[in-house]
Amino acid sequence: MTKPKVFVTRQIFQEALDMLSKEADVEVWPDELPPPRDALLRKTAGVDGILSLLTDAVDGELMDAAPNLRAISQIAVGYENIDVAEATRRGLPVGYTPNALTKTTADMAFLLLMAAARRLVETAEAVKAGRWKTWHPLHYLGQDVHGATLGILGMGRIGLEMAKRAQGFDMPVVYHDVVRRPAEDEERLSIRYAPFSDVLRESDFISLHVNLTPDTRHLIGRAELEMMKPTAVLVNAARGPVIDHDALYDALKDGEIGAAALDVTEPEPLPADHPLLTLDNCIVAPHVASASVATRRLMSIMAAENLIAGLRGERMANCVNPEVYEA
Ligand code: GLV
Repeated sequence: MTKPKVFVTRQIFQEALDMLSKEADVEVWPDELPPPRDALLRKTAGVDGILSLLTDAVDGELMDAAPNLRAISQIAVGYENIDVAEATRRGLPVGYTPNALTKTTADMAFLLLMAAARRLVETAEAVKAGRWKTWHPLHYLGQDVHGATLGILGMGRIGLEMAKRAQGFDMPVVYHDVVRRPAEDEERLSIRYAPFSDVLRESDFISLHVNLTPDTRHLIGRAELEMMKPTAVLVNAARGPVIDHDALYDALKDGEIGAAALDVTEPEPLPADHPLLTLDNCIVAPHVASASVATRRLMSIMAAENLIAGLRGERMANCVNPEVYEA
């Protein structure tokens, strides 16, 4: 029997590729950069399965160009690059990798929070550049993290883990989400539900943990930044477009808020001459919140397992559109 064909749009952990190779003829895009659109369409034209990244648009055009496609497997928890409605209409299961990266991403969000609070990047750069001359009582002062109020926007899996980390630093946590957590979560983690604008006004640190949807695009714009404290630190390890970057630049430059620490931006990467990169009070990391060895290995394996299940016609363990199995 001929093996099904799969296209993997970037190198992932070899262990996961070996698992896939037992089931399918696997082609891996070898370059560091994503396949250009024409290459992506060409490479997927005859495949039964695709293992995709956030940077690959898996849309109706691609699905049309790949008539044999039976399964899509994304190595990420977010999947806004995939037209899930279109996949569902065609009965194509879409896999993703939730849970694997929850704690690792929360670790990074907390790291960004602390780094911005204590100006770690700016001060370490000063040392490297030979600008640090002596210990001085008034130099390089930042903000205390312990005891400060943390506002969390989006209290899903990662938001909850962020709240757990805040507990260790005696931080009161106030949160907003479209769906309020059950009372037992609120009690266990000492998190207080509040209207969106109250979270913006009350928090010393604001961490974003929402999905990117049409409703959350530019959730943080000029009006929201104006509501924040002049010392507020804004952390984004969710998705870049959740923040209006022009408004953020102005707010950081004019001292409307204290600092920002971003793992994600719009676009990615930011061009090297982007104004945000000129600011000492803005940290920008290269979308690495899930980038620990253990987590990226687990994500690779989960994505391979989802794809294998899809190819076998079995239920994917982590499926974005399980309704395809009801049809
Ligand atoms: C990364 O950003 C992911 O969605 O997993």
